[in-house]
Amino acid sequence: MAQRPYIVGNWKMNGTRAMLAEARAIDRGSERYPGVDIALTPPFTLIAALRDAVNDIGVGGQDCHVEAKGAHTGDVSAAMLLDAGAEFVIVGHSERRADHGESNQVVQAKALAALEAGLTVILCVGETESVRDSGQAETFVSAQLDASLPRADGAAERLAVAYEPVWAIGTGRVPSLADIGAMHTALRARLVAAYGDAGKDIRLLYGGSVNAGNAGEILKVDAVDGALVGGASLTAVSFLSIVAAAGEAEAA
Ligand code: PGA
Repeated sequence: MAQRPYIVGNWKMNGTRAMLAEARAIDRGSERYPGVDIALTPPFTLIAALRDAVNDIGVGGQDCHVEAKGAHTGDVSAAMLLDAGAEFVIVGHSERRADHGESNQVVQAKALAALEAGLTVILCVGETESVRDSGQAETFVSAQLDASLPRADGAAERLAVAYEPVWAIGTGRVPSLADIGAMHTALRARLVAAYGDAGKDIRLLYGGSVNAGNAGEILKVDAVDGALVGGASLTAVSFLSIVAAAGEAEAA
């Protein structure tokens, strides 16, 4: 792990105000891991309340619109996320790509809009199972990354990338450590090709069924700088055990 580890919990469409207790517990627990950057992305409805409830952890959104404002019923802009207390946003999550038909071009526009509004960005990429089975995963994900990356001055400094194989999300299945390492190495090369030396410092997270049992070995893979965690981020106990594994991997 070359960078400071970054562990991000993605609550997806989970959480009402009752869940703020978990966020507070995560925030308090984070004091034990000063070497780890920790953040949560609650649903939009909880961003402001969660921001008020925590002191040390980061708060982000799960998506934003490409426009700053306008007639887009049900959507939320990057500026609104910032105003609600978020400092970053996830773009290109596979559930957005699949459920809302978001193309690489749309994802790229969202990333640029977020940067322009003053947010940092976690950009997600990942292959489906059929692409993995065809042996084309690295080619596919590299092309997806190339087409989704925000190309703007200073973008690399405010960007993280999450490799999340679609078939590993919420399934309990994870790629082999060798496959994770190989994919991250391939993506690092794309980032350096896109941004030069600045691409070396962009944090590359792994996501997809990360849990307390497998986080330690995944986070010790050299090319992995952190994790994007869905299901296991919903309770303080399970999320903090992943944070603890990141702390150990960092110290190793
Ligand atoms: P999961 O989700 O940890 O529940 O597999 C990860 C994600 O979709 O970010």
